[in-house]
Amino acid sequence: MTEYFIQNAESFDGQRVTLKGWTYSIRKSGKIWFLLLRDGTGIMQCVVVPQEADAESFELKEILTQESSVMVTGTVKAEKRAPGGYEMLVEHIELIALADEYPIAPKSHGIDFLMEQRHLWLRSKRQHAIMRVRHTIVKAIRDFFDERDFTLMDTPIFQQAATEGTATLFETEYFGQKAYLTQSGQLYGEAGAAAFGKIYCFGPTFRAEKSKTRRHLTEFWMVEPEMAYYDLAMNMELAEDFIAYIVEQVLEHRRPELEILERDISKLEAIRTPFPRVSYSEAVDILKSKGVDFKWGDDFGAPDETKISEDHDSPVIVHRWPAEAKAFYMKRDPEDARLVLAMDVIGPEGAGELIGGSQREDDIELLIQRIKAEGATEEDYDWYLDLRRYGTFPHSGFGLGLERTVAWICGLTHIREAIPFPRTMTRLKP
Ligand code: 4AD
Ligand code: MG
Repeated sequence: MTEYFIQNAESFDGQRVTLKGWTYSIRKSGKIWFLLLRDGTGIMQCVVVPQEADAESFELKEILTQESSVMVTGTVKAEKRAPGGYEMLVEHIELIALADEYPIAPKSHGIDFLMEQRHLWLRSKRQHAIMRVRHTIVKAIRDFFDERDFTLMDTPIFQQAATEGTATLFETEYFGQKAYLTQSGQLYGEAGAAAFGKIYCFGPTFRAEKSKTRRHLTEFWMVEPEMAYYDLAMNMELAEDFIAYIVEQVLEHRRPELEILERDISKLEAIRTPFPRVSYSEAVDILKSKGVDFKWGDDFGAPDETKISEDHDSPVIVHRWPAEAKAFYMKRDPEDARLVLAMDVIGPEGAGELIGGSQREDDIELLIQRIKAEGATEEDYDWYLDLRRYGTFPHSGFGLGLERTVAWICGLTHIREAIPFPRTMTRLKP
């Protein structure tokens, strides 16, 4: 089956083809008119001239509306002045459906209106570019792990206990018992690391974030690798190679999209491994030296993260955190009992935390202590504790937030544009 898509115009230069899509705009100029055709992969300028096109097609200029669906037949040829570098000389336009007056006009609209029209807004140039970058990031994520002998291991969405604290759990009734939507696949990923050595899970995760920030969604995608016999240092190395690979793939495949987004590409080109590493305590000193009144032990807020990362072109890794600021499963630092072997990767340009990860507690007694300190019971985590009973082993992993990464790479100020249909505290529709 031969299909023709605008993005591949080079491969059918000089040929007579049929393109199927929607009317992006029309422009009349004296005796001829131009149809900008959108097919989901690109935009083609279609030139409608009386001698070349049949009369019926030519007359469509009087009725064709924005987003009407059409199939256009003609000969494609290179044309430097046309958007995309090719144009079509039209023979025939088959009108499939005339669109009602399209609510999104080429003028500027407010963000609330556009979010309500999200199902249509996705067709516009900027949103289209963001989703194509997202697609490439997802592919890069899979390729990175697949090329390094990781096994994809999907983890359940219905779970019976918390991974990242109880404050953000979405609870649901499950045939007479309580279930929670997954906050993270990690605990299951640890079972996977014992079974396969290196695994990753990649799927939607859910957090009842009650704050309205430009970095939080209630439903977001996270990729979580988990590796047997990795310590914190190996975990950090994998995380930086991973981010550098994603950026490299986007630069290789999505430059036109980054240009549509007016992204400062030089900032992405400046990313280099190894990333700077600072301990949590050093990060606190950096904040203090910049005049921030910060208490050791607290978590960093968005402005703090920006201050910690602003002196570097590449993301910064903050490691060895106070135990009380972090999750129960993180391994105690053998050199300092106040700390856990955690790491966060903070993106440049105010992107915030892209990755959170750690070496895992492999000592069952310490793990039980931490579970109890959270107000939970051993029973809640019985199967997870089995992983320490039957061949406990040093292991590490991390989670990268897909939308945070898309927002950073695309240069978006708000995370809501980084996912096709965002879910936030105030948005469930469309
Ligand atoms: O730091 P977090 O909470 O780590 C975990 O969930 C670990 N279990 C991961 C692991 O070690 N396997 O979340 C990881 C990342 C964050 O760094 C951030 O990028 C993203 O997930 N994230 C969110 N993204 C959008 N909206 C939210 N509400 C997010 N919460 C976390
Ligand atoms: Mg985190």
